[in-house]
Amino acid sequence: MQTVVIKGPSTLKGQIKISGSKNASLPIIISTLLAKDQCLIHNVPNLRDTRFLISILRDLGCDLDFQKNTLFIRSSAITKKSADYEYVRQMRASIVILGPAISRYKKFKIALPGGCSIGTRGIDLHLNALKLMGVKISIKNGYVIAERKKNNLNSIDHKFPKISVGATQNILMAASLANGKSTLKNCAIEPEVIDLINFLNKCGALIKVKNRTITVRGVEELKLQDYKVIPDRIEAGSYILATMATKGRLKLNNFNPKDLALPLKVYKEMGLKIKKLSNSSYEIYCKKLKSIKKISTKEFPGYPTDLQAQLIATQLKSGLNSKVVENIFENRFIHIPELRRFGANLSIKGKTVTIDKTSDLLGAEVMATDIRASFSLIIAAMMSKGKTVINRIYHLDRGYEDFDLKLKKCGVNIIRKK
Ligand code: UD1
Repeated sequence: MQTVVIKGPSTLKGQIKISGSKNASLPIIISTLLAKDQCLIHNVPNLRDTRFLISILRDLGCDLDFQKNTLFIRSSAITKKSADYEYVRQMRASIVILGPAISRYKKFKIALPGGCSIGTRGIDLHLNALKLMGVKISIKNGYVIAERKKNNLNSIDHKFPKISVGATQNILMAASLANGKSTLKNCAIEPEVIDLINFLNKCGALIKVKNRTITVRGVEELKLQDYKVIPDRIEAGSYILATMATKGRLKLNNFNPKDLALPLKVYKEMGLKIKKLSNSSYEIYCKKLKSIKKISTKEFPGYPTDLQAQLIATQLKSGLNSKVVENIFENRFIHIPELRRFGANLSIKGKTVTIDKTSDLLGAEVMATDIRASFSLIIAAMMSKGKTVINRIYHLDRGYEDFDLKLKKCGVNIIRKK
């Protein structure tokens, strides 16, 4: 298993090009199952998760070719009507295949995704809405078996009992080819959801967003079009926090601050300075890092759960009874015991982590646990004196394109060991 070794302390200085968004690329690629013909998707990050999704779609019978962040997809008809356990267990986002697949084909089965290290992560919101659309759902031998009798799915007027990114994406895709107009209320409106909608609309879908209500007028067919995925706001936020933690200076290219409005407001209060160089290029630096009082994760436009672990790491040397509350997942603090190995002063009570500063952080041997939590270990390693070894870096490779090369170019003493 690969590891990275970081010798700290380091200061992040230089420039980084933000990759295409992982969380936008995955549903956009999946949504091509809704249509015949072919397209090119540009700005797709070359990550373990995107390569993995490509192998799932190939297994279903689609024709794909991925080169230099551009994905060619020909998705005329799938030959296999089952997404197997072997694939789904490794990437929970694959549950989003069910909506488009059952809207195009009369029967489809997909392995139950199960829980994961950050929480139970049910799929009831996905399945309940599909049932209302006329899909018969049964669970057998660890698989969700979906069947429909009618030629098309029914449109629905539905309020999600809880805001879910995955369920919103799944159901709006299914509704794109349904009979009539669907009204979906209490939807997730993350930039990645909007990017999927922009892609589908370019392909001929009729989808509108107003506050948290999404209306989808079903069309007879979609025609795939070339598309460029938005920049990854979570990757950008992670490098911004790393710059702040190390009092560095960075030029961020291919960055859209609008998608990160609230986190940037918080970071500016913490001491971040940001200067616009062009429409997609910004200089950021931080000379003095202040402590936060209390930040709670929330659905967009709130503070993202995907930047919670990195925020905690950034506060390790400046926190003063600083509190971070996790509201999206019930078990997303597995990085806390790992951060303690550096000497961090952290306590957990229910959904809240309290950070009190430690003057000395020392490098340690730690383990990556999930994609975003893993980046908090990188930040801690850069703030610490001496050698840190991060094990199980496949988590980082799932979400951060060329992270070791990008960091090395900005002066971090980092080596990947095979
Ligand atoms: C979530 C995050 C997303 C992040 C991703 C990966 C939110 C709202 N969603 O998206 O920003 O990029 O994780 O870290 O911030 N739930 C159910 N039943 C369901 C579906 C979800 O109970 O059928 C619950 C989940 O367990 C979770 C919450 O709803 O507590 C939000 O889940 P959801 O948005 O669906 O998760 P992801 O799509 O993975």
